[in-house]
Amino acid sequence: MSVKLLREGGPAARIAVIPGDGIGKEVTPESIKAIRSVLESARRQIEFVEFDWGADKFLREGVTLPSGAVEMLANEFDAILFGALGDPRVPSNQHAADILLGLRFKLDLFVNARPVELFHDRLTPLRDRSTNDVRFMVFRENTEGLYVGVGGFFKKDTADEIAVQEDVNSRKGVERIIRHAFDYARRNQLKRVCMSDKSNAMTFAHDLWQRVFKQLRQEYPEIESRHLYIDTLAMEVVRDPRQFDVIVTCNLFGDIISDLGAQLAGGLGLAPSGNIHPGRTSLFEPVHGSAPNIAGKGIANPLGSILTAGMMLDFLGWKSEGEILRRAVRSALQENFVTPDLGGDKGTAEVGDWIAARVGDR
Ligand SMILES: NC(=O)c1ccc[n+]([C@@H]2O[C@H](COP(=O)([O-])OP(=O)(O)OC[C@H]3O[C@@H](n4cnc5c(N)ncnc54)[C@H](O)[C@@H]3O)[C@@H](O)[C@H]2O)c1
Repeated sequence: MSVKLLREGGPAARIAVIPGDGIGKEVTPESIKAIRSVLESARRQIEFVEFDWGADKFLREGVTLPSGAVEMLANEFDAILFGALGDPRVPSNQHAADILLGLRFKLDLFVNARPVELFHDRLTPLRDRSTNDVRFMVFRENTEGLYVGVGGFFKKDTADEIAVQEDVNSRKGVERIIRHAFDYARRNQLKRVCMSDKSNAMTFAHDLWQRVFKQLRQEYPEIESRHLYIDTLAMEVVRDPRQFDVIVTCNLFGDIISDLGAQLAGGLGLAPSGNIHPGRTSLFEPVHGSAPNIAGKGIANPLGSILTAGMMLDFLGWKSEGEILRRAVRSALQENFVTPDLGGDKGTAEVGDWIAARVGDR
């Protein structure tokens, strides 16, 4: 249950909406439609407040994340529903880095949760695998590692140039993400947690991961805990994904392995994610970007964003409504009521309307 849900007198949940750029602006409204529909029939109240942060605002006003935004989001909202950021007119991607990484770091959203779940057999590129075979959760550390931007150049733009990028790992940071993975497994009666690192080569940073993992696993004797180097994990996830329930790893490896997982489960158009700090305002976004190549055509797949909305409802404590959204997505896939990326001929809004009708009609 989110901390602010018990606010007296107000709506049951307040959601900040940041559609962002490109197809973010097309898929997010479909998620809102689905949420409104499922909550209406459950008689739950929700309020959405939209923010126009993105490339247009940046190009118009030079503003990325407005001052005071982080405090406002943390104090006044239960969660943030995010679309995507990225626009060819901003080649530096500065606005995206400021807004998305800014929120991840400043709201201390240390858990990047990326469920990998195959909803229909035909969607996996793996031969002879079915929906029961591909179902695991990836927890990526989201606030440290190689993403903290510590580093620099020496003799830049010369033949002798040196570039350094530091991998920053704190005991607190490593401990809280590994503990989160074990707690999640315990809460959901999952039997196996796999921690992945590259401690054979990264002998300081990932030695810390090793030591923390070996210490924490003792607190969870009922869970089968296992370690794999990241290169082995990449092979094993493809060879036999049935081996995994929960994977926990650092920021960079989590970024990569979760995209691999997304592909095993039908591709970017279907992959949801949450940037979470349990008990605090957290941010939910589909894994895909702003897809400028299809933006404006009305054909973006909204299902990744709708599954993201499902994760947000779970986080708000409304798991049965989250499950209803997931069931509706499964039905859309079964009935092939899908956008062209999944081989269908439906438009973004058509799929969104179908899901909203399905989840409201119970
Ligand atoms: N979290 C984010 O906001 C995020 C994540 C990734 C990329 N980006 C940004 O998005 C922009 C485009 O990046 P990219 O092309 O590498 O990645 P992308 O995810 O936007 O697109 C990759 C490919 O997948 C397709 N695709 C993605 N989502 C889809 C959907 N919902 N339905 C149908 N097809 C979909 C696209 O058409 C494209 O062919 C860049 O500016 C990048 O920086 C942002």
